[in-house]
Amino acid sequence: MKVLGIETSCDETGVAIFDTAAGLLGHCVHTQIALHAAYGGVVPELASRDHIRRLPLLVRQTLDAAGCELSQLDAIAYTAGPGLAGALLVGASFAESLGLALGAPVLPIHHLEGHLLSPLLAADPPAFPFVALLVSGGHTQLMGVTGVGEYALLGESVDDAAGEAFDKTAKLLGLGYPGGPQLAALAECGQTGRFRLPRPMLRSGDLDFSFSGLKTAVLNVVSAPTWRAEDVADLAADFQAAVVEVLCAKALRALEQTGLSRLVVAGGVGANRHLRERLDASTRRKGWRVYYPEPELCTDNGAMIAFAGALRAAAGQCGGETPAVRVFPRW
Ligand code: KG4
Ligand code: ZN
Repeated sequence: MKVLGIETSCDETGVAIFDTAAGLLGHCVHTQIALHAAYGGVVPELASRDHIRRLPLLVRQTLDAAGCELSQLDAIAYTAGPGLAGALLVGASFAESLGLALGAPVLPIHHLEGHLLSPLLAADPPAFPFVALLVSGGHTQLMGVTGVGEYALLGESVDDAAGEAFDKTAKLLGLGYPGGPQLAALAECGQTGRFRLPRPMLRSGDLDFSFSGLKTAVLNVVSAPTWRAEDVADLAADFQAAVVEVLCAKALRALEQTGLSRLVVAGGVGANRHLRERLDASTRRKGWRVYYPEPELCTDNGAMIAFAGALRAAAGQCGGETPAVRVFPRW
């Protein structure tokens, strides 16, 4: 079964074809970073217009890369939410139209399910069950995963997501857009231990997170009269260390509480090198193992949507409902 995946939830247009027998046949991503950089953040209207412009070309490019004809597609999967309403509607309309034209089933996929299952696309995938740490720009969640579609929320951020905290802190440190990767790169050049930043909810006893206070603590440091701009890399390193320490501690607690030994990390912040090092080191000591998506599949892409669609289709969850453009921006 060949499934076309379409991702347009935010500022990346992603298209991929996953074959249940042969694996990932092709995947293409167009990022809108340059388009939004001048505004310091994603401008929803510009994002939608760019998805409209790029999507048909990317679909053609992906079909060519996969050596596949449109008529060979067995199903179309698209990100139905959460995300920007206008951006989601572009992918949804395209997918539903294509499904109607081809007489192929269309599967609306939850963006986070795509992220969560993406480590299963790697060469050495984890078996079920596992704990998933989802760390993206919009979500920070710990989930107990027993199978496709079997997800139990164990804990989540009560305010900002980890990626959001990276992005907002980068902005207040005067770094460019997108802030998260730039802040992480700056932190690599800094020394930790100079700034005492909080570890929010570290000892809350549950599996929830809070990151908005950390951003405020950084704001307090840079607003103080003693602040020196040349210390920015050290502050970035201390900020990153604080986020990573809390993410690590809670992920380990989730493994302890569930009795599971496999941890899957997904979402953009999962690309963070320091987070990976800390998680690998602290789980190795306990004989546990951490699984990550391929680096290029950490951030938004169509492959994870095609894959989630293929797994759902294989499980007979093709819907079969009347064609309708369904999006759920706050799903
Ligand atoms: O999963 P993703 O591409 O999009 C969402 O679904 O949100 O995640 C994007 C988030 C952004 O907040 C970005 O700043 C963050 O992931 N991010 C990072 C790194 N790379 C991306 N945060 C910390 N370190 C990184 N290396
Ligand atoms: Zn995402």
